[in-house]
Amino acid sequence: MLRLSVALALAASFCLAAWPASDRNEGRTRVLLNEGWKFMKYESAELADDLIYDVRPEVLDGEDGKAADAKPTEAVAVKVDRTVLNPWVLPTANAFIADPADRHARPEGQSPGAEFPFNQLDFDDSGWEEVRLPHDWAIEGPFMEGKDAAVGGGMGRLPSPGVAWYRKSLDIPTEDEGKSVFLEIDGAMSYAMVWCNGTLVGGWPYGYASWRLDLTDYLEFGGANQISIRVDNPPYSSRWYPGGGLYRNVWLSTTQAVRVRQWGTFVTTPKVTKESAQVVLDVEIENASESSEKITVATELYELDENGDVQGEAVASFEKREVEVEAGGVSKISSTLELENPKLWGPAPSQTPHRYLARTSLLLGEKSVDVYETKFGIRDLRFDAREGLFVNGERIYLQGVNQHHDLGALGAAFNLRAAERQLEMLREMGCNAIRIAHNPPASELLELTDRMGFLVVDEIFDCWERKKTPLDFHLIFPEWSEPDMRAFLRRDRNHPSVIMWSIGNEVGEQYTDEAGAAVAQRLQNIVKSEDSTRPTAASFNYAKPDMPITAVTDTISLNYQGEGIRNAPAYAHLKGINTPPLYPKFHDAYPEKLIISSENAAAVSSRGEYLFPVVDGISAPVADGAGGDPSSAQVSSYELYTAPFGSSADKVLGSLERHPYVGGGFVWSGWDYLGEPTPYYSARSSYFGVIDLAGFKKDRFYLYQAHWRPDLPMVHILPHWNWKEREGEVTPVHVFTSGDEAELFLNGKSLGRKKKGDFEYRIRWDDVVFEAGKLEVIAYENGKEWARSEVETTGEATRLSIEADRTEISADGYDLSFITVRVLDSEGLWVPDSDVPLSFEVSGAGELVATDNGDSTSLVSFKSPQRNAFNGLGLGIVRSFSEQPGEIEIRVTSPGLQSDILTVNTEAIEASSN
Ligand code: GAL
Repeated sequence: MLRLSVALALAASFCLAAWPASDRNEGRTRVLLNEGWKFMKYESAELADDLIYDVRPEVLDGEDGKAADAKPTEAVAVKVDRTVLNPWVLPTANAFIADPADRHARPEGQSPGAEFPFNQLDFDDSGWEEVRLPHDWAIEGPFMEGKDAAVGGGMGRLPSPGVAWYRKSLDIPTEDEGKSVFLEIDGAMSYAMVWCNGTLVGGWPYGYASWRLDLTDYLEFGGANQISIRVDNPPYSSRWYPGGGLYRNVWLSTTQAVRVRQWGTFVTTPKVTKESAQVVLDVEIENASESSEKITVATELYELDENGDVQGEAVASFEKREVEVEAGGVSKISSTLELENPKLWGPAPSQTPHRYLARTSLLLGEKSVDVYETKFGIRDLRFDAREGLFVNGERIYLQGVNQHHDLGALGAAFNLRAAERQLEMLREMGCNAIRIAHNPPASELLELTDRMGFLVVDEIFDCWERKKTPLDFHLIFPEWSEPDMRAFLRRDRNHPSVIMWSIGNEVGEQYTDEAGAAVAQRLQNIVKSEDSTRPTAASFNYAKPDMPITAVTDTISLNYQGEGIRNAPAYAHLKGINTPPLYPKFHDAYPEKLIISSENAAAVSSRGEYLFPVVDGISAPVADGAGGDPSSAQVSSYELYTAPFGSSADKVLGSLERHPYVGGGFVWSGWDYLGEPTPYYSARSSYFGVIDLAGFKKDRFYLYQAHWRPDLPMVHILPHWNWKEREGEVTPVHVFTSGDEAELFLNGKSLGRKKKGDFEYRIRWDDVVFEAGKLEVIAYENGKEWARSEVETTGEATRLSIEADRTEISADGYDLSFITVRVLDSEGLWVPDSDVPLSFEVSGAGELVATDNGDSTSLVSFKSPQRNAFNGLGLGIVRSFSEQPGEIEIRVTSPGLQSDILTVNTEAIEASSN
């Protein structure tokens, strides 16, 4: 029986900044399909219809807050005891399954759901919510509180689990008759299944995959068509916040029957010097017509400017080639050219990320049937086991961070500007590399990393066959790992920023010797069959050099093991994985493999919270009363405390410097993210970030900046100096500086000039006795003054000051301005411990989409225009209205305080052509 309880739908319509609304040429069109969707989420999964992808095992252990390095367990077999729809969905994978024998045949006859009301064109969905994509149904909350909440802290306390539908009617013009029409979904969380005019066309279960469906055979040309998409997020299915729904872009594209295949080009640059580069282009052409065709393939190369727009005339062309493509077949041609004086792609800041565009035309006789564009970069990568990574001959040390997919208060709904802002702040810290943890990103993120010159480790899975959460993606791994991998590799392989493929993070197969190694080998082979130019990785937090799985991958990617897990004295009492520093052992066992530290630190802190006493050593596990306050669920920002398996930044940097053959590493994590709030699972978001969820810098930001940008004169003091209640008490003062020495003054009196020792990353005065007034620090480099900073005891909060990251934005309905609110005293000093209530009012040509303050424990909806400041700061996120250029007025008030007003202008934009 199909149940039809149309429940209160949870809505959010968070979107993305400017990208082309459409892309048209003779052969193909590609139009953004983000507008005009109707949405309905069932009140509970029990009340949902039974059009399920597959039955699921019972959840036997939904424990929240398991240590992230806990051993994954055996997967429970799925009992198929009722009709499931996966036989109609699996054929979607066929183009990504190499062996024809493994491909799936579509079942004969009418597909299930044909009579289901939501799949009918005349179904009345007027009671459904209107949404614009990208859409994350869960981000508006409400947050679920308490120990027994249906969604705990691990998944961010937000209602991401559940079943929901999206509907849209599509007019397909008669002129398109004879063309192929595709629905392209950049990401749907999760188990998406798509019906077109009542027929189940297909779908894709992995929520992070990008995929497309050929709608051609199911469409009514010259009429209205009904598209309905069922999305189904299981509970207990993720270790972090996954988001829910159509949370990335959706496109409609048309092509002729003869066309470049989906992601059907691959550009490589096997030989690169300053004088010339060999550019190899593979093009796969598919022929969906009923006759064999002879096709001429012509490709021209163009330079792109820094925005990714074509600059000038073609700089080179590949020799024209002819190829015969059988009816229903695919042919591949490979061509090579030498490009003189190539402009190389290289990471900032020492190199420039130049890019090119290959414009490939397919001609049937004289007639152009397709034009397909591929952006790429020319660069030479060398992974040297003794000296590290070389890009275009220059050694580039990986100063990286791990990043999850969510965008804080905007949730999982991808937004280009929000992602760009994350990268901009990371760049300011000196970060040059991103590990995508632990799933394929929105492809626009890679467009940003290409454009901005970041190096990327592109990662696909957090689990294989063994599960980390009860209803994890291990359930689909046997059938979908090959298509997931091939789709991911083909989609991302032309991005110059991608330097490595990671096939898995801390997978349970580390514990299963030969069996686990065999899975790794199968995935490794898939990578090599799609792209033999980049090395592979799988991140090991448990596997040792003598375990077979570590022999499989091209690099050694270590999570936490390099600097040692639970091995320092402060960690001695803890249970769990315990290892000494393992860089040397791996280096000896695999002298030919580059080692990188794919995850390190897992340090925790709450911005602006300082707890006493402060630990003496350089790294300690956070515990109640030792860096953690169980009553407030906040963690000290002295930046010395870590997850039980982690190490502070100081310990990690020291360890990396002592092992110079390690190519660098990736901090866990760059930004805070939703979910996984170790150590306080009553909270909603992590404490791991160097930058908090709202985008405010924690003290750690300056520790990394001091080390990663040695040429930038800077010095930073912690803590703040508003400690009236600590008058006469010891209040340690720590300083991060890119200089080599510093002198601290309290109310003009020197507390001593100290040098930073070898393998030290902070200068500390641990016996300072608090007295109100001013702390000043002067940093020195080689004996010369280098930088100064001060913190001062402030008065009470009396007014607000607001500032926008950008005051000119595009009137495209996606672009954002991030508004920072600071609480000030009567002297204009920032009050770093104020939590006054804030109220945002936004009018004019835009709207307030979300607010935040970076407090991991806040369970105020991100949608709320009211929230308290957290340690002196608050954030409002404002979005332009589409096609309504004008002024957005933003006013922030707080009772009894002087308010502040700011104007952001929105400007008409021309849809760009790339
Ligand atoms: C690692 C894991 C990450 C994250 C981190 C912090 O073990 O790979 O995904 O969970 O710990 O808890």
